[in-house]
Amino acid sequence: MRYTGNKVIDENKQGEATLVDETSELKNYKKLYIESYGCQMNFSDSEIVASILIGEGYTTVADFKEADVILINTCSIRDNAEQRVLNRLRNFQGLKKKKPDLIVGMLGCMAERLKYELVEKKKVLDLVAGPDAYRDLPRLLQTVESGQKAVNVLLSREETYADISPVRLDANGISAFISIMRGCDNMCSFCVVPFTRGRERSRDPESIVTEARDLINKGYREVTLLGQNVDSYKWNITAKGEILNPEEPIVKFADLLEKVAMVSPDLRIRYSTSHPKDLTNEVLETMARHENICDYIHLPVQAGNNEILKKMNRGYTSEWYLDRISAIKRYIPECAISTDVIVGFCGETDEQYAETVDLMNYVKFDFAYMFKYSERPKTLAERNFNDNVPEDIKASRLQSIIDMQLEHSHLSNKKMVGKTCKVLIEGVSKRSENKLYGRNSQNAVVIFDRDDLQKGEYVDVLIDDCTSATLFGKVIDKYSKN
Ligand code: 5AD
Ligand code: SF4
Repeated sequence: MRYTGNKVIDENKQGEATLVDETSELKNYKKLYIESYGCQMNFSDSEIVASILIGEGYTTVADFKEADVILINTCSIRDNAEQRVLNRLRNFQGLKKKKPDLIVGMLGCMAERLKYELVEKKKVLDLVAGPDAYRDLPRLLQTVESGQKAVNVLLSREETYADISPVRLDANGISAFISIMRGCDNMCSFCVVPFTRGRERSRDPESIVTEARDLINKGYREVTLLGQNVDSYKWNITAKGEILNPEEPIVKFADLLEKVAMVSPDLRIRYSTSHPKDLTNEVLETMARHENICDYIHLPVQAGNNEILKKMNRGYTSEWYLDRISAIKRYIPECAISTDVIVGFCGETDEQYAETVDLMNYVKFDFAYMFKYSERPKTLAERNFNDNVPEDIKASRLQSIIDMQLEHSHLSNKKMVGKTCKVLIEGVSKRSENKLYGRNSQNAVVIFDRDDLQKGEYVDVLIDDCTSATLFGKVIDKYSKN
């Protein structure tokens, strides 16, 4: 069993195959292998793709060597993510030499940029489908079967796949993702997402609530609402504030959170990712009011210096960010906060970098994802600035903040020792058959004795020890099942 945390890009999961229990009812099924890279959104999209293709007579397989069709769902966020996928494609090429009928296709964020190179020039791929083109996959596959190459990388202003009930990647049967919006309009200068995933659009709230209800009925106990920028979720109102249908209610992110929280007190709610400029007090107040909305916020800061933040086009200053941090602590004193940080952005001086260190030292995040700046094609930064911080400086800046963050994470866990927390059991620990793992509301992993407990149950655990990554404790109480 893998622990699937609430991470932006979970290193444990990169390249994991999407496997589902459901097979097609049709007899002559074809074998599909899907492998996913990148953020949770990509993993969630692979579940939508699996759902579409199962409806077309496919079944999923765990070993790519058995497949008739291999799809690789890709990420472009940094150059190393792309390199990893390109290496993997070489394995599939080897197999294609032995199995000429094998179809190899690329999905996701690398599709648009590499379609020409990989389909026409290098002839490595038979099929390319961008993030908004998955409904077209059955047609694209037929085109390939008839002997042609097939490409659809059109981005859409409307597609949310709202009516497609995703088959679950089902790592533990307890926690699932629900995609609530797609795309991003923020145009951070370093970021490729607006180009790979297109304009921002939100999904019908009723379809989200129905999906949450369906999940709890199937035994799930936790949902993570996903979007590139969840706080700007909006339904029945445009970004400019125009109401689309005056007869219908407006639903903003805080309202949506409340609707999902009301589905059941036994369903935990998480969400990712928030943008500091959009995280409203209303959202914090809603979180504070519902015990089942977890006390955890992922709030990427990216940098601590205002000039760098401006060049990144983040739309806030470090003062604004710190104000949001104090608001979180005011509304939800026990709230855990994690962040993303980029070092070595174009022109970043030692002094500017030091302000990132100061900010991290001041906030003492519970967790952080830290990256070296990687220039991406088409982005505002690629067009306007020089990627001029030498690689060795980027590397040493990154290492310093990683070392510092490790201490902060340890500190955050040490504060829990001696306290009791409510944990949702997710499964058996990877290290020991006799231990279970789960997470507390703050998203920290907690390990404890198995006894006669089952995954999906809530328990109170008294924490007695910790490392920088994990809490250990004893179960002192069990919540009765409804
Ligand atoms: N280089 C390095 N890190 C990046 N991120 C996004 N784009 C880049 C880039 N070009 C990081 C940001 C973002 C996270 C998902 O990835 O920190 O929040
Ligand atoms: Fe990678 Fe961003 Fe695409 Fe997610 S949205 S797969 S992080 S490029």
